[in-house]
Amino acid sequence: MIFKQLFDTDTYTYTYLLACEKTQKAILIDTVASQLENYIQLLDDLKLTLIFTFETHVHADHVTAASLLRDQLNSKSVVHRDAGALCADLLVTDNIELQVGSLLIKVLHTPGHTSGCVSYVVGDRVFTGDSLLINGCGRTDFQQGDSSTLYNSVHNKLFTLADDTLVYPGHDYNGHRVSSIAQEKSLNSRLALSKSEQDFIGIMQNLDLPYPKYIDEALPANQACGNLTRQG
Ligand SMILES: [Fe+2]
Repeated sequence: MIFKQLFDTDTYTYTYLLACEKTQKAILIDTVASQLENYIQLLDDLKLTLIFTFETHVHADHVTAASLLRDQLNSKSVVHRDAGALCADLLVTDNIELQVGSLLIKVLHTPGHTSGCVSYVVGDRVFTGDSLLINGCGRTDFQQGDSSTLYNSVHNKLFTLADDTLVYPGHDYNGHRVSSIAQEKSLNSRLALSKSEQDFIGIMQNLDLPYPKYIDEALPANQACGNLTRQG
């Protein structure tokens, strides 16, 4: 498998490129519109054909490149049915599996940060978006967020994956690139196994976070798959 972890320094967003070496078919997870030219260059350099762009959720902090990539490379955009982005080419639900060459991508519905959040399992890796960050998680005070729901998504779904599953998050603000299910079960300061659901709800209620910087432009744009002209 070809694998690249890409980083947008403006929004601290990780984007992931995965591809089948045999068929040269590729997918991107959580793209950022301002990085469009970099994706096209990378795909070209590696001689890859982009089949799908996957969203872990409708993002509040950056605009997806899904629509731009669809227009330029004919890729199909994938998002959960409950994400509120009916512009997507494929609306997926829990436990759906998609095959791209030798890559098998399994969808896990992990709501709580938003109602349409998913994680994608590919082999021994899980791409968790904002459902599970390294030593953290996405906020639950916007976009139908719900702390109890997020706690149960993480504990009943993500933490039932094998302990050595590699956790690749949607963001990291501290320079960390990868974790594991075992590490988050024991060390995540909000969601470790030692934390009860009530502990977690209390932590999330007291975060006192600022209003997200790009939410007013990012949400409507992402509900249109990154293309405001497609709205309405
Ligand atoms: Fe998010």
